[in-house]
Amino acid sequence: MKPIYLDYNATTPVHPIVAKAMHPYITDMYGNPSSTHWYGFDAREAVDKARAQLARLLECEPQEIIFTGCATESNNIAILGLLTPWMDCKRHLITSAVEHPAVLEVARFCRSLGCSVTVIPVDSNGLVDPCDIEKAITKNTVLISIMHGNNEVGTIQPVEAIAMIAKNHGVLFHCDAAQSIGKIPVNLRKLDVDMLTVAGHKFYAPKGVGALFLKAGTSIQKVYHGASHEFGLRPGTENVTGIVGLGAAAELASENIETRSLKLAETRDRLHNAILAALDDVRLNGHPEKRLPNTLSLGFKNVSATDVMNNLLEVAVSAGAACHGPGEHRISHVLEAMAVPQEYARGTLRLSTGIMTTNDDIDVAAMSIVEAVKRARD
Ligand SMILES: Cc1ncc(COP(=O)(O)O)c(C=O)c1O
Repeated sequence: MKPIYLDYNATTPVHPIVAKAMHPYITDMYGNPSSTHWYGFDAREAVDKARAQLARLLECEPQEIIFTGCATESNNIAILGLLTPWMDCKRHLITSAVEHPAVLEVARFCRSLGCSVTVIPVDSNGLVDPCDIEKAITKNTVLISIMHGNNEVGTIQPVEAIAMIAKNHGVLFHCDAAQSIGKIPVNLRKLDVDMLTVAGHKFYAPKGVGALFLKAGTSIQKVYHGASHEFGLRPGTENVTGIVGLGAAAELASENIETRSLKLAETRDRLHNAILAALDDVRLNGHPEKRLPNTLSLGFKNVSATDVMNNLLEVAVSAGAACHGPGEHRISHVLEAMAVPQEYARGTLRLSTGIMTTNDDIDVAAMSIVEAVKRARD
């Protein structure tokens, strides 16, 4: 028996409808979209269709979508692309303490090249205060990069307010939305960001494909040099199969994003309630309401997450963020930034549900988690 999968924030399975859409592009339709013959025309059409599908989900124009290899690459293209021309003249980047390393490490690299960086702290729920961002803006600030939904605790940042502040000060705003796309509605007609990062494998598309929304008129310098693919910003023959998968996943999400959000919250809350009913000294990390509907970060007092996981073979979960490297169960920078007390931070599990999660899965998983914590506490 495979363990019950409650690690959808690490990655999701490819949805069967997505796999079906991709299949012809693994087998018969192998053309290069740049080729000027039947095979190439078909591949180009498939890439264009996927661009339109993703644009529909995000409510932007298809020409504002650049396909990339993953969210990390999108973040690099956005931040380095914007800052590179300014590196030697002390320009300023604002980001937050709870960003994924795919932003924080790019910011650190920018700093090493001479750029100044302000890292905004968060409160105990993991929320950035937009006033802190406004106060940090100087005449040298060129970019604010703040995530949408946090990957570890799910807290959703006040990105509308931050976008307004950025606009009022003539500063560009990049938002890493790798975790929120496909879980909650993200409407770029309402959310006035200049750049936004998308990760295919977090919403039922395959790994190895992502996207960057680049608002029309926003000019960034190319990070990669090569041919003119993807508006010259991501040269290299397109991953047609992956892009078709991303398009199909976006179409699926556009059909039912509101009901999907509700269903995710239902399974997540069922899990939370079952655990709370059976165990004392459990702390919810992250904002109680302003949170991704599938994300449950729980701190179990006076145990280590590793001990709990060693007793938990029936359920696949994460201790902290999965992307930090194998076996790395140190207290995450996100829990540290939120000042989660050590006795809860050490025993924190990240549980994340998905659209395939059933109530039966939740009931069995809750029982197993409770037992594993009790055994670790003994
Ligand atoms: C918020 C956020 N940004 C970026 C990434 C990096 O995504 P990828 O591994 O697809 O590059 C992740 C992955 O977990 C994430 O959660």
